[in-house]
Amino acid sequence: MQDAFGRKIEYLRLSVTDLCNYRCVYCMSAAGVCKKARSEILSLEELAEIGAAAVRCGVKKIRLTGGEPLLRPGIVSLCRMLRAVEGLEELTLTTNGSLLPAMAKELRSAGVDRLNVSVDSLDSTRFRSITRRGTLADVQRGLAAAREAGFENTKLNVVLLGGINDDEIRDFAALTKDTDYCVRFIELMPMGVCAAWPRERFLSAQAVLTAVPELEMIGGDGVAELYRVPGSRGTVGLIRAMSGCFCARCNRIRVTADGKLKPCLHSAAEFPLRGKHGAALEQAIREAAARKPAGHRLTQCECSETPRAMNEIGG
Ligand code: 5AD
Ligand code: SF4
Repeated sequence: MQDAFGRKIEYLRLSVTDLCNYRCVYCMSAAGVCKKARSEILSLEELAEIGAAAVRCGVKKIRLTGGEPLLRPGIVSLCRMLRAVEGLEELTLTTNGSLLPAMAKELRSAGVDRLNVSVDSLDSTRFRSITRRGTLADVQRGLAAAREAGFENTKLNVVLLGGINDDEIRDFAALTKDTDYCVRFIELMPMGVCAAWPRERFLSAQAVLTAVPELEMIGGDGVAELYRVPGSRGTVGLIRAMSGCFCARCNRIRVTADGKLKPCLHSAAEFPLRGKHGAALEQAIREAAARKPAGHRLTQCECSETPRAMNEIGG
């Protein structure tokens, strides 16, 4: 499946819920989201059907996202259904990690290949104030459970928050010394609640190279630049969501929990998939992918053009 600019679309991010047990300050208001009626959210069967149709269109990798995907009842059986889809090469999941202590093992046996876990601070007090509800120890237990369950090369997502967690950059990089983690620093994107935040909160990923000058570039991995602290086992990734422009290399499409295909994270364009099946569903996916814009205009517009918040899209 190709878009109008010749980009091969091989990666689907599928949001399975807009709910989250955390309230990260840059993502949600303290009140959270108003819960959508269950009928508005795709059923497990619909999610599996969309995943399978996307694979028939040429998707090779599916990432399950949220909100917090592990809150979705039936998530493990959805993983199993997707894993059974012929032609799918990789099934991954992005989570805040809080429910991994109980779920890592069953996710692994359901066929999830890899995990991304979000951790924005290594200090428990600060972690609580960023997530408003989270407990760092739960996530640390979750990471340990994931390792015991056999997950390797887990990615730790760290959103760079100027004046909030930038003094921890070296501590995060040090985590890669004896682990196989890829610690990925993500530039904060002005979406939803953080769109109105002061400029000093938006740090360039350059801050990581300044704080850890010994980092050596070792290549790239999709939208991330990859580095290594010499002698370390794990890697450090930089995702220049703002300062870089990887739109030309973007190979992804997204489906929201209420069944709209978004060809671009930052565009308002959405294509409804609900009620479509079989060949009609495949055609809808292909047509929507073909409408993927050349790139976002985050730097020109200073704000994302999607009216949706991150918890509705899944990053
Ligand atoms: N900018 C950058 N990253 C964000 N995330 C959520 N909101 C934003 C934002 N405005 C991250 C989460 C998670 C991933 C899915 O996206 O922290 O790691
Ligand atoms: Fe939940 Fe992720 Fe949003 Fe934090 S960033 S509130 S963990 S959806």
